[in-house]
Amino acid sequence: MSDCLQAANLGYSPVLRNISLTLAPGELVALIGPNGAGKSTLLRALTGYLPPDSGTCSLKGKTLAEWSPQALSRHRAVMRQQTQLGFDWPVEDVVAMGRAPWEQTGSHRIVREVMALTGCLPLSGRKYNALSGGEQQRVQLARVLAQLWVDDAPQGWLFLDEPTSALDLYHQQHLLRLLKKLTRAGQLHVCAVLHDLNLAALWADRLVLLHQGEIVAQGNARQVLQAQTLSRWYGAEVRIGEHPDASAPQVFLAP
Ligand SMILES: Nc1ncnc2c1ncn2[C@@H]1O[C@H](COP(=O)(O)OP(=O)(O)O)[C@@H](O)[C@H]1O
Ligand SMILES: [Mg+2]
Repeated sequence: MSDCLQAANLGYSPVLRNISLTLAPGELVALIGPNGAGKSTLLRALTGYLPPDSGTCSLKGKTLAEWSPQALSRHRAVMRQQTQLGFDWPVEDVVAMGRAPWEQTGSHRIVREVMALTGCLPLSGRKYNALSGGEQQRVQLARVLAQLWVDDAPQGWLFLDEPTSALDLYHQQHLLRLLKKLTRAGQLHVCAVLHDLNLAALWADRLVLLHQGEIVAQGNARQVLQAQTLSRWYGAEVRIGEHPDASAPQVFLAP
């Protein structure tokens, strides 16, 4: 387990209670749960931005507090729900911020490469603050991939808080296919808060359902996305069907 990110009995009163979670190499984990369940708070605790009241979170066998900020930044990157910038930077410079923990050699090539991967090249030269919410999300994705870029691929732990919330259908699919492809290569490990359960069903290896600060269900899509489970924890009336092309459940709201 030395190559894992491991949370043991994490608590942050009154938001998180007794969270134990392991993020294994090459896994794409979806964090799901109703509004206010504590998903964003958990992400902050797992990434070292929020020291927990109790329990520990360790990366490669060392607690997050034992890592130097620079070393930690080379191993894990975080894309928050919304990122406003107080300065009027062009897109390329925002992506290049991801390279701050590294030597600048090769930075320009990496910035171009992650911009191409995330579909950001057409945004070249634009001011970040003038972009739409969805365009800003794509730029932030490029930034966090740049942060984890080593040689010719991203490596480490990538945390994303609702990365698809402002994306159109094409870019939702593009982002999840990209994350899946990058995690399959085995060097990138992704933990993403996703509200869209059908995206999680199609692309996540594991779903972790949070409710009032506790993990109440986890497993693959078929294990977690059951009508009874979702009604109980979300309060919504749902029906579960099957994706026409993939072996995956899909969630429908009852009319
Ligand atoms: N520092 C804090 N102290 C007390 N309550 C907090 C704190 N931070 C967040 N909360 C509350 O904890 C709950 C979980 O917040 P959050 O993690 O943002 O939920 P989610 O991302 O699942 O919607 C919310 O009710 C929020 O208002
Ligand atoms: Mg949140």
